Amino acid sequence: MRVLDRLEQLAAIGDRIGYSPEEDAAHELAAGWFREAGLEVEVDDAGNLLGRRPGDGRAVWTGSHLDTVPSGGRYDGALGVVAGLEAVERLGLPGLGVVVFRDEERGCAGSRARCDSRALPDAFLELHVEQGPRLLNADAPLGVVTAIVGYSRQTVTVTGRAGHAGTTPMAGRDDALCTAAERVLAIRDAAQRVPEAVATVGTLTVEPGGVNVIPGAVSFTVDVRAPDRARLDELLAAIGLQPGLGTEPAVMGPDVVAAARAAVEELGLPVVELPSGAGHDAGILASAGVPSGMLFVRSQNGGVSHNPDELSSPEDIALAVDALTGALRRLAS
Ligand code: GLV
Ligand code: MN
Ligand code: MN
Repeated sequence: MRVLDRLEQLAAIGDRIGYSPEEDAAHELAAGWFREAGLEVEVDDAGNLLGRRPGDGRAVWTGSHLDTVPSGGRYDGALGVVAGLEAVERLGLPGLGVVVFRDEERGCAGSRARCDSRALPDAFLELHVEQGPRLLNADAPLGVVTAIVGYSRQTVTVTGRAGHAGTTPMAGRDDALCTAAERVLAIRDAAQRVPEAVATVGTLTVEPGGVNVIPGAVSFTVDVRAPDRARLDELLAAIGLQPGLGTEPAVMGPDVVAAARAAVEELGLPVVELPSGAGHDAGILASAGVPSGMLFVRSQNGGVSHNPDELSSPEDIALAVDALTGALRRLAS
């Protein structure tokens, strides 16, 4: 299948952190595919890539991102781009477009820049792997997303006193890493008390970072998510972070949801509606007023993602391309 072959070519580039030479290489590869498919190619000031069918027609876009987390999987983002191109080629309708947003993983820089400064589509439908186990548990290949959680990412710095690892008695130490470790566990416990909220400490920088030096300062990132603003702010406050910051939860556009539902039904598949616990460019476009939606493809291996074991089956991917094609057809007319 061409979609799988293209995913393979992207995976061969390796990790593709936003705005790295590797993400550039992935965008160049995709631009070549867009040109081969007869699409008009545009790169905007933020580096987002857009391939559009020439001619007048309702501007309906699909697509996703080609950057990755460090040591991620091969489907997150990339599937939405290659499957999106497949669907747009099949339909051949003027106005349809495939967009590749830059630097999604670290906070959707590309789609935010696009929403701040450039023309937006009449509707956006992003195909993505679920990155969780709900479709697997429901025995359903595809899902229709109803909303995307809100999230806030903040950095915490803890200070202590650096000193000699061999000569400073344990009793007199102010070890910043020990304090940070207690904060990390307190964050985990606080998140367990807010229903459907999650919090993750994903990076930690220890200074000065010597094998024989007591840590004098530690900075760590906290990624906090919840289905609504109230729970997001409740958790932020509970862990001593600033409430009110971050990306708002986003509700998907009713017409886009309806088109996705109808396309899944047309294939004789069950329609499973679910919220997304991951952030997505579709949430940024929805918050900017673009009617937006998402189709999810079942994730295998227990739903694992941001991990090399991320997997969706060729059969489910084939169904996803069919459903995306059907939904785009409905939205374009
Ligand atoms: C994007 O993958 C996110 O972190 O939700
Ligand atoms: Mn993604
Ligand atoms: Mn991701």
